[in-house]
Amino acid sequence: MHRKLTLIVATVLITVFAVSMAFAMGGGNARKGKFLYRKNCRTCHNGSDAKDLSPADMTQAQWTATFGDMSKIKCSGDWTITEKDINDIFSYLHDYAKDSPSPAKCS
Ligand code: HEC
Repeated sequence: MHRKLTLIVATVLITVFAVSMAFAMGGGNARKGKFLYRKNCRTCHNGSDAKDLSPADMTQAQWTATFGDMSKIKCSGDWTITEKDINDIFSYLHDYAKDSPSPAKCS
């Protein structure tokens, strides 16, 4: 009887741990990020005011490094979006990067 209870508690703890790890490692919503990127970034990054920039323009490591130090992104001082939105945009760019299973070009 006690054994079963221990098993249930362990399962719950492992699930909670796995979910929090996913958040800690980014875990943004890439689908939402795609929408947010088009709305907040592509307005300039379509080759008009800034260079044409799509997920497939960088590798996953390059996106991680770029967003790891956002102060180096020239336009980041002008962004008015929330941390959560930035995280979703990062997930979109990272998940569809040049070396991802499905590289994406915005067109
Ligand atoms: C008002 C116009 C504008 C908007 C909106 C904008 N940017 Fe930029 N961004 C620029 C300019 C200008 C540069 C520097 C020159 C260039 O890369 O063309 C730049 C540079 C960058 C770079 C560096 C590119 C490189 O290879 O050095 C990244 C990454 C970037 N922007 C991401 C974003 C993201 C993500 C968003 C949306 C949250 C965004 N930008 C919104 C104008 C903009």
